[in-house]
Amino acid sequence: MHQFLCLLLLCGVVHGLNNGLARTPPMGFLSWERFRCNLDCKTDPENCVSEHLYKSIADVIVAEGYRDLGYEYVNIDDCWPAEDRDSEGRLQPDPDRFPSGMKNLSQYMHSKGLKLGIYEDFGKKTCAGYPGSEFFLRTDANTFADWEIDLLKFDGCNSDPKDMDVGYSTMSKFLNLTTRPMLFSCEWPGYLRAVGIKPNYQAIRENCNIWRNYNDIQDSWDSVLSIINFYGQNKGNFAAVAGPGGFNDPDELIVGDFGLSYYQQKAQFGMWAMLASPLFISADLRNIKPEFKAILQNKRVIAINQDPLGAQATRLYEAGPIQVWLKPLAVNGTYAVAILNTDNQGMPTKVTLTPAQIGVPNPNGINITETFDNVHVGAFKPGQNFTIPINPTGIFLASVVPLS
Ligand SMILES: *[C@@H]1O[C@H](CO)[C@@H](O)[C@H](O)[C@H]1NC(C)=O
Ligand SMILES: *[C@@H]1O[C@H](CO)[C@@H](O)[C@H](O)[C@H]1NC(C)=O
Repeated sequence: MHQFLCLLLLCGVVHGLNNGLARTPPMGFLSWERFRCNLDCKTDPENCVSEHLYKSIADVIVAEGYRDLGYEYVNIDDCWPAEDRDSEGRLQPDPDRFPSGMKNLSQYMHSKGLKLGIYEDFGKKTCAGYPGSEFFLRTDANTFADWEIDLLKFDGCNSDPKDMDVGYSTMSKFLNLTTRPMLFSCEWPGYLRAVGIKPNYQAIRENCNIWRNYNDIQDSWDSVLSIINFYGQNKGNFAAVAGPGGFNDPDELIVGDFGLSYYQQKAQFGMWAMLASPLFISADLRNIKPEFKAILQNKRVIAINQDPLGAQATRLYEAGPIQVWLKPLAVNGTYAVAILNTDNQGMPTKVTLTPAQIGVPNPNGINITETFDNVHVGAFKPGQNFTIPINPTGIFLASVVPLS
């Protein structure tokens, strides 16, 4: 496994985008899933898309310890611009909802040790109908650099996917020419796949730091599971292109929202760690239950996501509702393993496996330690059984260390 990764990533066959960013998956907040295009600042001032929303979330990210765990990007999504460009063709923020301007907002983030991300669209208009970047790519890249933006999420509504190979790489060049490193988040392969065009992942990795391949996440377990299964089927050979500098993006975390049970939230967080996914929380961190916050702040799970090897887990096999996933870690021979129980029957399922079946048949055996609660499960020889009870729609996440 390591040699395979070395061939693809470290030995230079697939070059990453050379802007120094996303050496491990980026972490932070992204407003879309939870706050959508809420324009109603009159009756819902706390939750409308406005500078107040991003500043108040940033305050909590700092005050409640998220920043110090690595959550550093505060990302705006659609619906921030004014309806029209200014007289020089530049984008401008909605003056009522962002009265201090974008540079002021980015400086607010920087003063707190955070970064500001913004959203635009490759097409004529954004998905919600605001001015798009088509024919303004260079102007917009320069505007974002002037505003001291740190990340650009670039959507693909209202454009022709056939133009994207040229368009996204052109935008990537214009971002580079500004000389300001801005993490480039692309929706390019997702739009190509949706119309049946096979993405060129080598080109995508050369031009983007993170890229979406599949549908937007929604606030439900069905949505989470459909994304897990999409990466499990691995029809784009996704794991092979993930690594320092460039990662697949399964979309936001919905931990702390309405749709998932406590155990389903652990399952999403554990699987997003395994997938080397960006960890962009889309929840109202100002009002989050302590047990959900504890999931998002679990250092051991974050460490699996942030492992410097940057490998994305692959699904070893599926047996009925049980899925086994394996992620190689930087320390040679160590792994993270996830066993997912997708069954929804009312009792924990007792899953019995051997080290060989989870893909680590080390002759001297392995130590298995559960990650969320840091519980040592035991030491096992390659053919020896171990049995784990896993809740319905739940996860068992563990680190695996070879014994010498
Ligand atoms: C622009 O690209 C060059 C060449 O790959 C790279 O050395 C440089 O760091 C890049 N600059 C930014 C701001 O991304
Ligand atoms: C910009 O932000 C600073 C402090 O964050 C504030 O004092 C100042 O009034 C803001 N400027 C504008 C134009 O709102």
